[in-house]
Amino acid sequence: MTDSYLPKDFLWGFATASYQIEGAPQQDGRAESIWDTFCRIPGKIAGGTNGDVACDSYNRTAEDIELLKKTGAKSYRFSLSWSRIIPLGGRDDPVNEKGIQHYVKFVDDLRAAGIEPLITLFHWDLPENLDKRYGGLLNKVEFSKDFENYARVCFKAFGDRVKLWITFNEPWCSAVLGYSIGQFAPGHTSDRSKSAVGDSSTEPWIAGHAMLIAHGAAVKAYRDDFKAKDGGQIGITLNGDWAVPWDENDPKDVEAANRKIEFAISWFGDAIYFGKYPDSMRKQLGSRLPEWTPEEIALVKGSNDFYGMNHYCANYVRHKETEPDINDHAGNLDILYQNKEGVWIGPETQSPWLRPNPEGFRKLIKWLSDRYGGPTFYVTENGTSVKGESQLSLKDLLDDEFRCEYFRGYIGALADAHTKDGVDVRGYSAWSLMDNFEWAEGYETRFGVTYVDYEGGQKRHPKKSAKEIGQIFDKYIKKE
Ligand code: NOJ
Repeated sequence: MTDSYLPKDFLWGFATASYQIEGAPQQDGRAESIWDTFCRIPGKIAGGTNGDVACDSYNRTAEDIELLKKTGAKSYRFSLSWSRIIPLGGRDDPVNEKGIQHYVKFVDDLRAAGIEPLITLFHWDLPENLDKRYGGLLNKVEFSKDFENYARVCFKAFGDRVKLWITFNEPWCSAVLGYSIGQFAPGHTSDRSKSAVGDSSTEPWIAGHAMLIAHGAAVKAYRDDFKAKDGGQIGITLNGDWAVPWDENDPKDVEAANRKIEFAISWFGDAIYFGKYPDSMRKQLGSRLPEWTPEEIALVKGSNDFYGMNHYCANYVRHKETEPDINDHAGNLDILYQNKEGVWIGPETQSPWLRPNPEGFRKLIKWLSDRYGGPTFYVTENGTSVKGESQLSLKDLLDDEFRCEYFRGYIGALADAHTKDGVDVRGYSAWSLMDNFEWAEGYETRFGVTYVDYEGGQKRHPKKSAKEIGQIFDKYIKKE
């Protein structure tokens, strides 16, 4: 036992998401999601790939549960495909019993294996029909009603068996990558002709607002009609990196580093914990950032039972002297990987944005805990790709020491945050149980603790990290 520890009932396991692993796009009545259509746009996905087959997990649930069991995992975080449950998405559209039954069986099988399910309701794969019908996330009134209805269908079907619910996964990504940069579905870009309301400098903020209201509506529905009976908890998952000033002695860089976290995380966090947007965002974005109505504040403020934290890396931040560009969404600053002295923030991985820095994890979770009054945290994602992994021989890539070292560093930092900084953390899901469809990066970038042989019949091969992660937790979790 080291000095730092994690609490006795700590829930550790792995995470995945429906579109990234399931495949089977036409099976059992599923209709299309915005990711099915987005993947068909030439040039959007590396290698021109898509999630049509992915890991074929829709047909391999037993195999996936076996994998989980072998690791000793206590929990599994996965997302439901809205397009399987209500294929056309809307509150007046039919519910697909086959889709529901698939997930009921999966949840029951997980529980029979002693693995606690954590369900994410929305991991980016919006039913295509809702985007077509009224502009999806750009229509807060329709979207929040349809999301609430979908959430209710899920609470009713699985609420007696599922105790941890996540409304949205990384709304920052849906809003900014989907409605400004165009790297994610539905692919709106700062080229105004490609933006639905004709102004992509406004669209991400509208989409973010709509997700917050939809989150609030789903939480209210859960608290009003399900929570007392089912006894579960519900929250949102927010992503964000730790930010280090490029020049620690320049107060403008220090301020910019803080501002970057506000633009990435407090955009949603402040809305949920304080019922407002950060002043730094209001100052830069003015009326492009939606105003809150009193009804919306009542719905959103206080709407987290726990804070779901996705975290991977840190970066350096340098302020910009120039006026912010109208399409800027980061807080008018440069994001860099080397500081003024030329020091790299962390080693290279296969993902251009990801350079590991475990101390940043401890600092960020403490920053969040201080800002939001010590909420309960569940780390809902943390993990790494490995530079050049796809090019290695099977024998070499299964020996993923780089990933093991990442987990040792990050889990140790989490234990320090818990023990030395008093952060209330109850769970951790590593990203990911297996290699899968890494969105715009296709299949080249692998995050799994299990290698998936896409050409070799989807065979799963556990890497060294699949075995090691349980030993790391064993070292930190208190025995009594
Ligand atoms: C966060 C996302 O939730 C997940 O879908 C993605 O694959 C990982 N980050 C790695 O990029």
